[in-house]
Amino acid sequence: MKMIRTIDELKRWRESLDGPLGFVPTMGALHEGHFSLVRCSKQENPYTIVSIFVNPTQFDDPEDLRKYPRTFERDKELLEREGVDAVFAPTVEEMYPKGFEDEDAHYDFGYLERILEGAHRPGHFKGVAQVVAKLLRAVEPDVLYLGQKDYQQVLIIKKLIEKLSMPIKVVMCPTVRESDGLAMSSRNVRLSPQQRENALALYRSLIKAKEVYEQGGSVVEAKQEAMKILESAPLIKEIDYFEIVDADTLKPINNWDEADKVIALVAVRMEGVRLIDNMFIK
Ligand code: PAJ
Repeated sequence: MKMIRTIDELKRWRESLDGPLGFVPTMGALHEGHFSLVRCSKQENPYTIVSIFVNPTQFDDPEDLRKYPRTFERDKELLEREGVDAVFAPTVEEMYPKGFEDEDAHYDFGYLERILEGAHRPGHFKGVAQVVAKLLRAVEPDVLYLGQKDYQQVLIIKKLIEKLSMPIKVVMCPTVRESDGLAMSSRNVRLSPQQRENALALYRSLIKAKEVYEQGGSVVEAKQEAMKILESAPLIKEIDYFEIVDADTLKPINNWDEADKVIALVAVRMEGVRLIDNMFIK
């Protein structure tokens, strides 16, 4: 497995390849969710590269950035075991030689970046787009693998690829969950045992909303039932949102037949950690 630290080195490696390249961008602290993307890429491409870079510009909360788990040596070992061809792990200076306010800092995604995560994490998607634009130009992958766990991010990055006019296919892989349903996340290690218990309310609320739909209930009922579950978890301090929307546009719906594909998305805050999850309803 090749360890790459600079964009120049990366470009040289890229030029040496003789077949399609799959790319899995990450911020490290790797878990089964990340590895599922790696495995998917390995199945579909002769070459797979993973990036590990904790991108400062997408953190709206400095404390969250400071506390973000960093397990680089372990990550490297596990990726080696997965049979990844290369890891790109640049420094902040390598990615932002001109500082954080550079030419990639201002992509505009309109409505998509103003709602849900965008509304609660100001500047977050600008930061994601900024780093992903740089990563894509450096890696020039044929296929990009992203997790459904961050559904809104997938829509933003698809839009970004259109803006960059790069011939990159996006593959979205399903959310990997713990055996009890909690979506895997690098931030889960920050949960106390009691918070871990309460965090299950996210998954339960999504399942509930789907059940209401399947049993013929309305969108309003689905939301109400889901909210009841979230509200009954004492360690959930704030519910940022529970929304049921058109999965293509993220516009809220009032009736199930307003959209072909419907998704429910949820975000909550606990003491010291914020969690998100989502599920397709139809
Ligand atoms: P990170 O949170 O490390 O996630 C990297 C990729 O793994 C993302 O595509 C994310 O959706 C996926 N992922 C995380 N948890 C998952 C799970 N439980 N099941 C399936 N996939 C999962 O997302 C980022 O990093 C960053 O924003 C990044 C795109 C790397 C830009 O900095």
